[in-house]
Amino acid sequence: MVKIAVIGSSSMDLVVSSDKRPIAGETVLGKSFNTVPGGKGANQAVAAARLGAQVDMIGCVGTDVYGKEILDNFCKNGVNTDNVEPVTDEATGTAHIILAEGDNSIIVVKGANDRITPEYIRRAEETIANADIVMIQQEIPEETVECAAELCEKHDVPLLLNPAPARVIKEKVIEKCAYITPNEHECEVLFGGADVSYMLKKYPNKLIITEGKKGARYFNGVEEVTVPGIRVHAVDTTGAGDTFNGAFAVAVSEEKGIHEALRFANIAAALSVTKFGAQGGMPTREEVEKGADSDEKNRHA
Ligand code: RIB
Ligand code: NA
Repeated sequence: MVKIAVIGSSSMDLVVSSDKRPIAGETVLGKSFNTVPGGKGANQAVAAARLGAQVDMIGCVGTDVYGKEILDNFCKNGVNTDNVEPVTDEATGTAHIILAEGDNSIIVVKGANDRITPEYIRRAEETIANADIVMIQQEIPEETVECAAELCEKHDVPLLLNPAPARVIKEKVIEKCAYITPNEHECEVLFGGADVSYMLKKYPNKLIITEGKKGARYFNGVEEVTVPGIRVHAVDTTGAGDTFNGAFAVAVSEEKGIHEALRFANIAAALSVTKFGAQGGMPTREEVEKGADSDEKNRHA
C-alpha cells in the first residue's frame, strides 16, 4: 500500500444547476441546489484513498457544520485526519459552483484553508517525511507551497504540484517538484505563454500537461507523447483534474512508470465525470481496471 500525504484545501461545494448562466445584472431560475464535499486537496486525497492508497490529509476546516461534514466524509473514505485541525475563528472554505450550459464556473472562498501556513505544515513534518509521495495544489498560501517543496527536498520525498488555480510559481519551486501537472490554461500562466513544446522538453518526465478529454502530454526524454483520454458521457466535470492527480500519484508511486500511470489516471478521471459532484464518480481500483479492459477492447474493435 503506498503512503500519500496531501497538503491542501478542503471546502464545501455549493452547487447550483441551471440551464443558463446569468450575465452581469441578470437573474435566472435554477434547477437544483446541492452541497457536496470538495476542495482540490480533499478531492485528491479521496481519489487516492478510493484507489487503495493510505492517505494522510494535511489541511484545515472551521468548527461549523461544513467542517464537521468534511471530517465525516474523510472518515467514510478512509482518509486520516490527524493533521486536519478545526479552527474556531474562520469558516470552512466554500466553493460556489454554477453548472450551466455543459460547463462549470467556480468562485472559491478560502476561509480556513488560508490557515494552512508554512508553520502549520511544519507540524506535520513527520507525516511528510514518511510519505511515498506528497501532493499539493494552490488553494492555499503560496509560501506553503514553497515550504512543502523545501520539506520534500530535505526528506527526499517526491512532490507532485498540481498548479491549480493558476498562478506564477518561482522557478526554484518548480525545480524541487518531481511532477507538475497544469492544464493548458494554468500552463500559460505558469510559463508566461512560453512555447509548450519547449517547456515540455525543459522538464522531461516532470511537466505533465492535461488537456481534458484529449489526454495528457509530456516529454519522455526522447519524444513528446500524448496519452489519449477516454471518451465518456460527462455529467459533471468538476473534480476530474483532482481525480487524475490522485490516481497518477497512486500509480506512479507503485512504480508503474509515467506512461502507464497516465493511462490509469485518464481512466479514473473519465469515470469520475460520469457522476454528479467532485467526489461522486471517483472510482475504486476495480472500476479503473474494468475501465482499462473495456478501453482496450474498444481500441481493438
Ligand atoms: O477541482 C475541483 C474543486 O475546485 C471543487 O471541488 C471546488 O471545491 C473547487 O475548489
Ligand atoms: Na464527478
